Amino acid sequence: MSETPLLDIMEALREVPSRVSMGSTGRITDMTKYHSIHGNSIIDIDSFWLDVTNSMITWRKAPTIGLKGSFGDVSNRPLSWFEDGTLNVTESCLDSNLKTRAEKTAILWEGDEPGETRRISYSELLELVCRAANALKSLGVEKGDRVIIYMGMVPEAAVAMLACARIGAVHSVVFGGFSAESLRDRVIDCDAKLVITQDEGMRGGKKIPLKEVCDEALDGDSSVKGVLVYRRTGGPVNWNPVRDVWWHDFVPLQPSECHPKECNAEDPLFILYTSGSTGKPKGLVHTCGGYITYTSYTHATVFDIREDDVYACVADVGWITGHSYIVYGPLANGATTLMFESIPTYPDAGRYWEVVARHGVTIFYTAPTAIRALAAAGDRFVSVHDRSTLRVLGTVGEPINPEAWNWYYDVVGEGRCNVVDTWWQTETGGICISPIAQATPTIGGSATLPLPGIVPQLNDSEGREITGEGEGLLCIKYPWPGQARTVWRDHSRFVSTYFGHFPGLYFTGDGCKRDKRGYLWITGRIDDVINVSGHRMGTAEFESVLVSHSAVSEAGVVGFPHPIKGSGVYAYVVTQPSEEWNQDLSEELNLLCRKRIGAHAKIDLFQHIPGLPKTRSGKVMRRILRKVAEGEMDSLGDISTLADPSVVGAIKDGAKKILYQSD
Ligand code: WTA
Repeated sequence: MSETPLLDIMEALREVPSRVSMGSTGRITDMTKYHSIHGNSIIDIDSFWLDVTNSMITWRKAPTIGLKGSFGDVSNRPLSWFEDGTLNVTESCLDSNLKTRAEKTAILWEGDEPGETRRISYSELLELVCRAANALKSLGVEKGDRVIIYMGMVPEAAVAMLACARIGAVHSVVFGGFSAESLRDRVIDCDAKLVITQDEGMRGGKKIPLKEVCDEALDGDSSVKGVLVYRRTGGPVNWNPVRDVWWHDFVPLQPSECHPKECNAEDPLFILYTSGSTGKPKGLVHTCGGYITYTSYTHATVFDIREDDVYACVADVGWITGHSYIVYGPLANGATTLMFESIPTYPDAGRYWEVVARHGVTIFYTAPTAIRALAAAGDRFVSVHDRSTLRVLGTVGEPINPEAWNWYYDVVGEGRCNVVDTWWQTETGGICISPIAQATPTIGGSATLPLPGIVPQLNDSEGREITGEGEGLLCIKYPWPGQARTVWRDHSRFVSTYFGHFPGLYFTGDGCKRDKRGYLWITGRIDDVINVSGHRMGTAEFESVLVSHSAVSEAGVVGFPHPIKGSGVYAYVVTQPSEEWNQDLSEELNLLCRKRIGAHAKIDLFQHIPGLPKTRSGKVMRRILRKVAEGEMDSLGDISTLADPSVVGAIKDGAKKILYQSD
């Protein structure tokens, strides 16, 4: 009989009682294990991910095939993972938890008013999801149909997502701050059959008229056959009796069981729209098997999830962070996941820490913009609340500056919590570069090292690989299961956006530095995407709104460093010859952005300029606009190809006044 080394037995004993099972790949508890698991994951990518998925995910038919396709061939064949497997992701998120966690809280909800709480156990959540799934079926929704979810942060938003997944319908959640026009664009683009919304949302004591915006979006011809309306506030709404159905009248009457639809691993699970550098937002498509594998694996790994954790990610389900790390990843791991309806500063800047104390939160995940705003409000808002339960603190959405990181670590975490700065994107589906709590030594400002399965590559702009210490454009070398497969009904856009820069590599759109110990430091977007308070916005979206105003002839929009929001929005505007530039016009333009894009789309600084800096061939030299807005006026580079170099002087002079005033 062979002997099991004592250390392995101890490790096994340590893992069983409190942690999510990770199969033979095991937990990453130290850096030796990290290097060995990361190394193995790359040597045999198929075995690694098949092992992860078959030990973490509930499959109807277990997959035997890992990856099919390659980055070099995405134009001919979308990537696929586990393609001979079938499953329904809700079985991993719900049914599989009933054996040991039926009474455990699945969703812990903290409403807008402090202390307004709901607890939904795994068995209750399954029942709610089944009833909602049956309601969708009764309303004519079938496998593959698209359903738009336009809601605030109520548990029913997660129920709606899971109900779609239960019957194989494809959800597309639209953040509740988006305008009617943005909502309409998404309804049209994905040809939605049904919309799920609520009467009003609540955020920071204010009501958000979700149903009203939805009515406006669906005005006129629409593919939408029904609107299911959850009552949150009881506020007045207009009612279309042919189309609208109250959730509380309809869903509770449905049967409490709903057989999960068997889906192929590569059937779409959801579409999520995100801003890119050009054109309208793209509908990124995530598929069932790979996405649930990747979100559950990364959630368990990065946060070191344990059975008794109270896990709080305070993002919104309208963004990818909410999809992957409020709903799918945590539920697949049987965790208690908190949904937070309010904002960090309501009723005061201590709200997050009040939530931590009230619910005994052990893992807390937020964005750098919130950390900076709360640090600026002062430590006393933190210290009055008990944070002794906290063990892991996460950040996501934008680069975190070392000062903010240190404040999070020292003041919020009292110097005893692991801080994980997690880099990823809507496109990646889940975290790709991040410390692993309990294992990776951290330095404030660095996302540190790639997770298993991920091999980053830094390139210079000519496509040459930068090895060792250096700075370049962040690419990823090999596919991983959680990555988006395509852009909804526009595969060529997917191919050109992500694989058109460097053949055979996934290009992220971010800049990145590698230090001498191999740690990665994300420097931010290098394309025309601006990350405002962790919300991704395309400069082209702003520009098209601005030029649609009759007083504007041309516009150029760029980001600029903002002490709280990370990036602010800076608009250069050229008016029509007959038009005057004044404060009223800038306010009007901002109202227009709000109306056309959404409540979160605000231009911080306007500059009226005589003309955009264009090359002789008519191309706007965006580099100049960016540098000037960043205050780097003396390093504009070569401007000799400009048709009229004198505009640069005018732009610089005007900017100096604006940047000086805004200080
Ligand atoms: C940025 C959010 C630095 C980055 C999950 C990326 C980050 C974009 C980090 C994706 C981080 C996200 N450090 N930058 N830890 N996390 N980003 O699609 O520019 O809303 O490309 O996904 O956010 O934003 P998205």
